[in-house]
Amino acid sequence: MTSSTNHKILRKAIFPVAGLGSRFLPATKASPKEMMPVVDKPLIQYAVEEAVSAGITEMIFVTGRAKRAIADHFDKAYELEHQLEKSGKKELLEIAQGVVPKGVSCTYIRQTEALGLGHAVLTAAHLIGDEPFAVLLADDLIHGEISALKQMVEQHNFYGSSVVAVQQVSGAAISAYGVISGVQQGDRLYLLDGIVEKPKVKDAPSDLGVTGRYIFSPQIFEHLRALKPGAGGEYQLTDAIQMLLMQEQVIAYEFHGTRYDCGSKLGLLRANIELGLEHPEIGNELRGFLKNELFQKLQ
Ligand code: UTP
Repeated sequence: MTSSTNHKILRKAIFPVAGLGSRFLPATKASPKEMMPVVDKPLIQYAVEEAVSAGITEMIFVTGRAKRAIADHFDKAYELEHQLEKSGKKELLEIAQGVVPKGVSCTYIRQTEALGLGHAVLTAAHLIGDEPFAVLLADDLIHGEISALKQMVEQHNFYGSSVVAVQQVSGAAISAYGVISGVQQGDRLYLLDGIVEKPKVKDAPSDLGVTGRYIFSPQIFEHLRALKPGAGGEYQLTDAIQMLLMQEQVIAYEFHGTRYDCGSKLGLLRANIELGLEHPEIGNELRGFLKNELFQKLQ
């Protein structure tokens, strides 16, 4: 595996948020899946905070129909701020104002049809230009001491190559993922030699499933432009990664942290309970409720 110090700093991230969120209907009929809260913060804000923690300053949202709430969330809320200020609610005012940290910009672009993740990323190509960039899927919430993207940026800075996040997935669940094959090169690190989208369990090349964090070299756009519809008739990012790794080094990194699949009902509930338990305002009460009331009911 080769390393490199000759590469550009990561400044930009794409957040594809144009999917239909059909697994959450009717909740997602008129409002975005990415605005669903875990405790008191929408999923998309967790993802933006993760990008900020990794040094990213330019956030690019690929949006679609019924996603206006995302742009509103990251916009300045003059009336709300004025009201909170007037009524002396200083802490709440700080929360409202802190949604977008200083020095961070947000840009929105429409994916007119939800043709797949590969297509969504390609929609933002002209906003990226010739530099590496990150992609974060907000419905994968990753919780840990050091953010997953920050860990990946360290790998990217050392090896100078594209990085995909992976985690071990057991049993039949693997066929819901992009799955990699690769040669282990060190602790949690693999040199990719293949990647396949949603394989049958018997065809899965490993138990390492791709999760929603990526760092790409701009060469990925060349392969996204050449994509044909793949699994499920969608333009698959996975297929472009397969082309990229034939051209240049791509690594997979098994991040530290817990990932919640908040694109599924159970995953979102788990995230709410586990992050709720750590929440300074409600953690103790929630623990008491789970132990003393809920646990009794489950006996
Ligand atoms: P998913 O397939 O998990 O999201 O895509 P979905 O299509 O919204 O969900 P379901 O299956 O209908 O419930 C992963 C991510 O890629 C984005 C989604 O918004 C989600 O964040 N995406 C997917 C796009 O932006 N455009 C697409 O065409 C497809």
